[in-house]
Amino acid sequence: EKLYTPYDELGGEHTISKLVDAFYKRVESHPDLAPIFPNDLTETARKQKQFLTQYLGGPSLYTEEHGHPMLRARHLPFEITPTRAKAWLTCMYEAMDEVNLKGEVRDEFYRRLVLTAQHMINTPEPTT
Ligand code: HEM
Repeated sequence: EKLYTPYDELGGEHTISKLVDAFYKRVESHPDLAPIFPNDLTETARKQKQFLTQYLGGPSLYTEEHGHPMLRARHLPFEITPTRAKAWLTCMYEAMDEVNLKGEVRDEFYRRLVLTAQHMINTPEPTT
């Protein structure tokens, strides 16, 4: 019998695409995040769709095109503070609501993203 991955369970390519679009729509207007992202998020969103597809057990689209993700290393050029990690996760949580992701598959996905986001933090909170 076929084993279903989280990618299949949450609706595959269609759901990932809607989720990532809903996510970057929030990122581009978030005061803590917008300054470190490019103005045009087309390519960023394309890569994120590839990445989350493989993160959830779907086809290895990101690695096929870009090689090993090395996510923490790829984020080192950007100052990722605890505040920015929290903002990233809030945008994702709201995007999940917008596309109506529910249940255990959503909860487990979100829990993994919390851990991954914490791992990306590379800069302490600026002191003012
Ligand atoms: C790329 C910020 C967390 C996956 C980027 C870029 C920024 C960024 C500024 C570069 C965008 C570009 O130049 O196109 C952040 C911040 C985070 C965060 C502030 C807060 C913790 C995450 C997490 C994941 C992730 C949790 C995965 C679950 C990616 C991917 C890319 C990316 C796949 C594209 C890498 C590439 O260029 O190939 N992120 N990120 N990020 N981020 Fe994040």
